[in-house]
Amino acid sequence: MVTSSPIIVALDLATAEDAVRMAKVVAPHVGGFKIGLGLLHGPGPATIAALAELGRPVFADAKLHDIPSQVEAAAERLGHWGARWVTAHLSGGSVMVEAAVAGLSRGSGGAAGILGVSVLTSLDDAALAAVGIAVTPGKLVSRMARVADRAGCEGIVCSPRELGIVGDVAPNLAKVTPGIRPVGGASGSDDQARVATPEQAIAHGATYLVVGRPITKASDPAAAAEEIAASVAAG
Ligand code: C5P
Repeated sequence: MVTSSPIIVALDLATAEDAVRMAKVVAPHVGGFKIGLGLLHGPGPATIAALAELGRPVFADAKLHDIPSQVEAAAERLGHWGARWVTAHLSGGSVMVEAAVAGLSRGSGGAAGILGVSVLTSLDDAALAAVGIAVTPGKLVSRMARVADRAGCEGIVCSPRELGIVGDVAPNLAKVTPGIRPVGGASGSDDQARVATPEQAIAHGATYLVVGRPITKASDPAAAAEEIAASVAAG
């Protein structure tokens, strides 16, 4: 069954087998699968291929950040493997992000898009200040949204709290939000600092919701995914 659900489940699990097993369990309720650095640095290509076989787009959350030529090469490779979306850190600057867009386009034959990572949802004002960034996450995301838009990104990854800002600055960008925590969810906030419920994220204009532990660590992941899908539909 193909679903048009905006939920992308973050399969941050120990092995490719675990990820594919979990993907099969939650597939009826989600619209895509995301794999992160753990799996990409292990059985990356095989995992992307196995997940793509389940009939959902695969999001390779590679969080690329290097000199432009290296990022371009990595993005091209990920596109070739079949990733539908690849992330690159917008703090790498517009030339690097443009290189990511070019590499991915070449590798995927134009079928995939770069999602620019703005400010990690695990960071709050104090954490930004500690590394010398003296503006609020909102201001930073606003600047980064302009970079993403001009560089040709398909979308931007931001916290649910910055969705309105992105909508104002770059309305054509798809808005992808991690940091989703259903009310009363079993996993609490974990290491996320800037969180919102699925209903709030949709109400504020999210295009896709990235949901990991509230689904994958639930005692019944299929039921948790179904519940979040229902609340998204209601929102
Ligand atoms: O388990 P949880 O729902 O917190 O997972 C969120 C996912 O979104 C993780 O895979 C994490 O790497 C990713 N992510 C994030 N913040 C960003 C970009 C991606 O939490 N800014």
